[in-house]
Amino acid sequence: MKTWVGGRVVEAADAYVSAHDHGLTVGDGVFETLKVVGGVPFALTRHLARLRASAAGLGLDAPPDDDVREAVAALLRAHAPGEVGRLRITVTGGVGPAGSERGDAPPTLLLTVGPPTVWPATADVVVVPWPRNERSAVAGLKTTSYAENVVALHEARRKGAAEALFLDTRGRLSEGTGSNVFVGWDGALYTPSLASGCLAGITRGLVLEWTGAEEADLDRSVLADADEVFLTSSTRDVQAVAHVDGRAVPAAPGPLTQAAARAFAERSVADVDP
Ligand SMILES: Cc1ncc(COP(=O)(O)O)c(C=O)c1O
Repeated sequence: MKTWVGGRVVEAADAYVSAHDHGLTVGDGVFETLKVVGGVPFALTRHLARLRASAAGLGLDAPPDDDVREAVAALLRAHAPGEVGRLRITVTGGVGPAGSERGDAPPTLLLTVGPPTVWPATADVVVVPWPRNERSAVAGLKTTSYAENVVALHEARRKGAAEALFLDTRGRLSEGTGSNVFVGWDGALYTPSLASGCLAGITRGLVLEWTGAEEADLDRSVLADADEVFLTSSTRDVQAVAHVDGRAVPAAPGPLTQAAARAFAERSVADVDP
């Protein structure tokens, strides 16, 4: 596989950034992960808009969208169409001082690709004890400071689960470490509102548009009462949850989960801006 770094495509094994890159030293960066189908990045326009919003939130100058699009096209051209299933776009603060202060260097643009991710039909999840801070300066931004997510996912794996769910500081359901969450009960579908500090997931947004699901402030107890639960993310699309904290969810996948997955499969290519 190849990588885009330093303004060109190189072999992944030869891809380096500076040891003084602020993204590496203090996590001063933003990123996007996209699904790639048949050599075509899915929902690139939406991802670029979110990348720009995340960068603005950090006060980072993201490269112009056209430059990023050109880099994406060049990197994907360097692979066979079925070879790539996921693409990550990272923009960091560039070379800078060792501390929190940012330097004057231009931002670093780094693109990596990987094979398609194959997700199991269902996932087990656990709620972790650490909150998603909905009042944080970086709430809702897709930054490279993911250490909290690393710790939470590790804890989930330790408990035999595949994903960790965060509550916000007020105890409301928020999101997973790399996913948004939907719950269905009494025939209606809900997902935590952005006030919970969750990322405005691209998949979450499309499922909201296509299913009539509603955003709501959801108490943790919804997880115990739900008839069905599912996760969404760019590489998963829609993934049913089978167990929450060891409790079997009554239906996995339930009818609302199946309808969301169907809507995604049927509409995602035709109805989303490239
Ligand atoms: C913390 C977090 N929440 C939600 C998501 C899902 O967002 P998307 O559907 O845009 O992939 C991700 C994606 O990786 C994420 O990292």
